[in-house]
Formats: sequence, C-alpha cells, structure tokens
Amino acid sequence: MNLEQYILSIPKAELHLHIEGSFEPELMFEIAKRNQIAIKYKSVEEVKAAYKFGNLQDFLDIYYAGAGVLQNEQDFYDLTWAYLQRAHSENVVHTEIFFDPQTHTDRGIAFATVINGIDRALSDAKQKLGISSKIILCFLRHLSEEAAFETLAQSLPFKDKIIAVGLDSSEVGFPPEKFERVFAKAREEGFLTVAHAGEEGPASYIWQALDLLKVSRIDHGNTCLTDKKLIKRLVEEQIPLTVCPLSNLSLRVVSDLKLHPLKQMLAKDLMVTINSDDPAYFGGYILQNYLQIAQALNLTFDEISLLAQNSIKASFLSPKEKAELL
Ligand code: ADE
Ligand code: ZN
Repeated sequence: MNLEQYILSIPKAELHLHIEGSFEPELMFEIAKRNQIAIKYKSVEEVKAAYKFGNLQDFLDIYYAGAGVLQNEQDFYDLTWAYLQRAHSENVVHTEIFFDPQTHTDRGIAFATVINGIDRALSDAKQKLGISSKIILCFLRHLSEEAAFETLAQSLPFKDKIIAVGLDSSEVGFPPEKFERVFAKAREEGFLTVAHAGEEGPASYIWQALDLLKVSRIDHGNTCLTDKKLIKRLVEEQIPLTVCPLSNLSLRVVSDLKLHPLKQMLAKDLMVTINSDDPAYFGGYILQNYLQIAQALNLTFDEISLLAQNSIKASFLSPKEKAELL
C-alpha cells in the first residue's frame, strides 16, 4: 500500500474546518448567479489566481468577501453538503465544523438562516454518508466584546445544535483576554470552548486561552514551541492542538513544509491533529494535508496512524463513540 492509499484507508476526524473556507470558486459563481450578486472576478481561474497570501489578514479580506454571496438557507446547505461529500470521499468519519455567524448577521442574514442550512446538511450527511458531526460557533475577535455577547444571545435558541464556541479572525492585537467574560457566559450556558491561538500570535495568547477561556483544544498552537513551560502544561494535560499544515504554508506561518514544526510537536508528545482549516483557499482538503506533511517530514505509517487516532480522541464525541471509531 502506498502512502496515499494508507492515509485514505484510515478513518479520520476533522476538528478545524471553517465551513466558509470550504467555499470553492465554482460553487461561489453558481450561488452568486442565482442570488444576482456581482463578483469582482470574471472567472474561476481569476479567483484562484487571487489566492496568494502574504499573511493571515490578506487571506481574511478575500475570505470574508467570498462569504458575502451566501444569502439563503439553501446556500448554506449547498456549501456544507459540498464539503461533506468531499470529506466523505477522503474517509473523514467525524467532523467538527466552525462557522462565523457575524460574517453573515452583519450583512442582514438571520442567524437561523445560517445555522439551519448548515445543520440540515449535517443531518443529511449522517443519514446518507454515515458522517457524524458537531457545530462550533466562532466569534470574530476583531469585533467587539459587545458584538460577541449579542451573537451568543442569538445562538441560545439553537443551543442544542452547537457544541462549543471558538475564537477566530485576525489574531495579533486581539488577545483571548478580550473575550474572557463572553466565554464565561458561554460556559455557563453549557457550551464547551476552543480558540485559535499561536497561529501568528505569541505563546502568551495560548496561556490566556487555557487560563481565561478554559479551552478544551487550541486551534493551531504553533508558537507554543517557544515556551518550555507551556509545552509541559500542554503535554501534561494532553490539550489537543488542531494543526493545519497547508494553511500554515499558504499564510506563511512556515516558509516550507519541510520546516513545519509538526515533527517536533510529535517528538515532545504534544497531542497534535491534522486539519484543513480553509481547504478551498489553501490548496487541499484533509488528504492533501496528511499527504503533503507526511512527504515533507518523512512521517512513518505509525506516526500517521497516531495523528488519525489523536483526531478521534481529541474530538467532542462521547467515550463510547470514540472507542467505536478507534
Ligand atoms: N478564519 C478562517 N480561517 C482562519 C484562520 N486560519 N485563522 C484565523 N481565523 C480564521
Ligand atoms: Zn482556523
């Protein structure tokens, strides 16, 4: 069995996937047309040519613009369903999807329109494809605490559909401590918590996510390697890091996959997982993320198997469900 066949053959969970980041240009054009919205690019090729990013902010500007064509519940359904079919074809058996409600509610789209479209596709995927899933609501950290509180309030009628809250968007200058009170309220309401930290931001943001936001997982976490005490804490508590290799390459968090810290993370016994982040923008879904990082770092089949097992263990499934998948 070759490397690609091996990666495909093992069941995997995806724990770091922004549904708006799975919006392929072909579908973007189709939905823009039916909603009669103009896109600033003339063709799919022109859109793809624009996907060259110098950093996280370059990407976010294009990503938020792309999400602007989503208007109706069916649009959110189609977006989610396209991702699920792709994930299924790559043997993803469980997925925990982020969505950014503020990107849509700020344009006048109802919270219900967004979540009902996503949720209906996830229910269909459970039935038709056998993929299980959870939904994670992310607050945009460049917006205010007040706006996050408002979004949390809008989410409460849909509490049964949402497992956790997270934190994403521009990192540097928007530390986790800004959202300590919102996350406390979210935990009171029964949500689990996660946060993007240590993608471009310093290790201190990872400490804040752990100590102030009480997160169960860190999304990215690359810069933990600059802080020995933090590594010790993450290892002792086996806090999962949802690492995204092709995202790190596209956003220049690393200059070459051969220099990616994943192997160091494994050597230190950190609880790492592989994920695709925004696959339509970064050149690959979960298979390509596993494959390209395995090739760049000469990972063994055992290391790849460990990464996939970690993804199941780090999920928000029940102990019984995890045991079945493992
Ligand atoms: N939103 C979508 N992808 C993101 C990423 N990689 N970092 C922060 N916010 C994001
Ligand atoms: Zn992300």
